[in-house]
Amino acid sequence: MKGLFVTIEGPEGSGKSTLITKLLPYFEKKEQKVMATREPGGIKISEEIRTILHKKEHTMMEARTEALLYAAARRQHLVEKVIPALTDNYIVICDRFIDSSLAYQGYARGLGVDKVFAINRFATEDCMPDITIYLDIEPEVGLARIRKDGNREVNRLDLESMEFHKRVREGYLQLVDRFADRIIVVNADQPIDSVIEEVTQIIEQKLL
Ligand code: TMP
Repeated sequence: MKGLFVTIEGPEGSGKSTLITKLLPYFEKKEQKVMATREPGGIKISEEIRTILHKKEHTMMEARTEALLYAAARRQHLVEKVIPALTDNYIVICDRFIDSSLAYQGYARGLGVDKVFAINRFATEDCMPDITIYLDIEPEVGLARIRKDGNREVNRLDLESMEFHKRVREGYLQLVDRFADRIIVVNADQPIDSVIEEVTQIIEQKLL
């Protein structure tokens, strides 16, 4: 594989989608092959798994079922879309990847980061991002942003308690320490233009 695999991570309301919408034209203008995608989803089978995962009425979903479904969606998306694009030398910008499972299912749900990592290593055959941007924001600030945004779908995980969302952030911060050579923290509680500038510079550096 030759392209660059970039993942964007962060809690709810950290501005991942807005950032990705702006990154695409930036690299397209420079005539670089670039593709944006998301997890869970990005292709038909994984979008269908997303619907099951995020349905608000699926409150009975058990934690390991949840972790396995995210890993299954990840597997199909990786082999069907991400790896072919990387092989074709694309910059692939993916909204969430393995770190979401480690922070949400491993840490916040309490399944254990190493256990969730193990099923994901099976799912990905150890294919890891070249670089991960973690958009850091206090859960109170992120969730307040979401409430203001009438266009955003509210999913089953958005309805979790503030305690859960605080644990998600703690989980991410532990991952930042553990994978210091891969994950770069960007403060998401600043104007979006500053976030975009910081992230484009980080990716540009990685392309050199
Ligand atoms: P989003 O793409 O709109 O941020 O929604 C995805 C939701 O799914 C979000 O609440 C985080 C959650 N999620 C996990 O819990 N584990 C995962 O592995 C992934 C990819 C997402």
